[in-house]
Amino acid sequence: MDFRLDALGEEALLDVRRCEDEPSLHAVRVRYLGKKGLLTLAIREMAQQHPEQRARIGKQINDVKHALEAAIMAKRDDIVAQGIARKLAEETIDVTLPGRTERLGAVHPLMHVIEEIEHIFVGMGYTVAEGPEVETDYYNFEALNIPEHHPARAMHDSFYIDETTLLRTQTSPVQIRTMQRCGGAIPIKIICPGKVYRRDDDDPTHSHQFMQVEGLVVDTHLSMAHLKGTLAHFARTMFGSHSRVRLRPSFFPFTEPSVEVDISCAVCGGVGCRVCKQSGWVEVLGAGMVHPDVLARCGYDPTVVRAFAFGVGVERIAMLRYGIEDIRHFYTNDRAFLQQFRMRL
Ligand code: DAH
Repeated sequence: MDFRLDALGEEALLDVRRCEDEPSLHAVRVRYLGKKGLLTLAIREMAQQHPEQRARIGKQINDVKHALEAAIMAKRDDIVAQGIARKLAEETIDVTLPGRTERLGAVHPLMHVIEEIEHIFVGMGYTVAEGPEVETDYYNFEALNIPEHHPARAMHDSFYIDETTLLRTQTSPVQIRTMQRCGGAIPIKIICPGKVYRRDDDDPTHSHQFMQVEGLVVDTHLSMAHLKGTLAHFARTMFGSHSRVRLRPSFFPFTEPSVEVDISCAVCGGVGCRVCKQSGWVEVLGAGMVHPDVLARCGYDPTVVRAFAFGVGVERIAMLRYGIEDIRHFYTNDRAFLQQFRMRL
């Protein structure tokens, strides 16, 4: 019995030592100390021993039992400690690593300029209108006094989809659509920003696709003075109080009289630089009093109603605003260029 008990004790301790997790440790406990455990059976067997030996064997069994329980407890502490150590090692955070920053996009400079233009005109009581980019020949040309074979079509002739449908070459058709929609009602005060398309010119100030903001005001008693005052206010708000506008006589089939409007160069202050081609002025828009035939075609009586209109080149405004010399920068998706305009709206 003595010999068996010693062997059993040693085997039990060995089993404990081999355990690597709590379930296996539990299994060892059951194997030796459970109801039908090997040590439990030994205790039962002891009852059959000779009374003289019982005390000695009893003590021996108790020693083995205590040693086993102590070993199991120590092992459990060990397993728990190891588990914590492993978790700590796995979840270590190196706080000295640089953080992962989100790459934030930014508003394109042209969209930013359009927002600014809208803001200025909305402040003068205008609403923002929209029109289709795929336009009919009628709205893009006919209704604007540009019939077939009119020489004014030549500079616009560009992206036709079929005989009578094209990508609009100007935002002016929105004037016609707006007046038709209003059905003779006044006043009208709208601006319409949007993309326009033309035959390509390979130079730094032209692009086959660019942006315009069209403006139209229809009311009684309007004159060129209102037009000039409006544009001067726009220039001063956009470029600062020192900014000036200059009107030059021009021709557009849908306005009479017509003007080209220059703004004093905001990059050099009018002294002369590359952006203004040393002239001190930059041409940024076309404008005029809406032609009586156009008014009549849209259901307005030209003897009662007056209207002025203008078409602003958004890229020109943006070039002036930020001192950009080449219009193509806006469209090449060059991040180095675009990142300079990380401004908020
Ligand atoms: N649509 C003209 C262009 O693209 C610009 C323009 C001139 C618009 C005179 C107007 C205007 O509204 O009255 O060249």
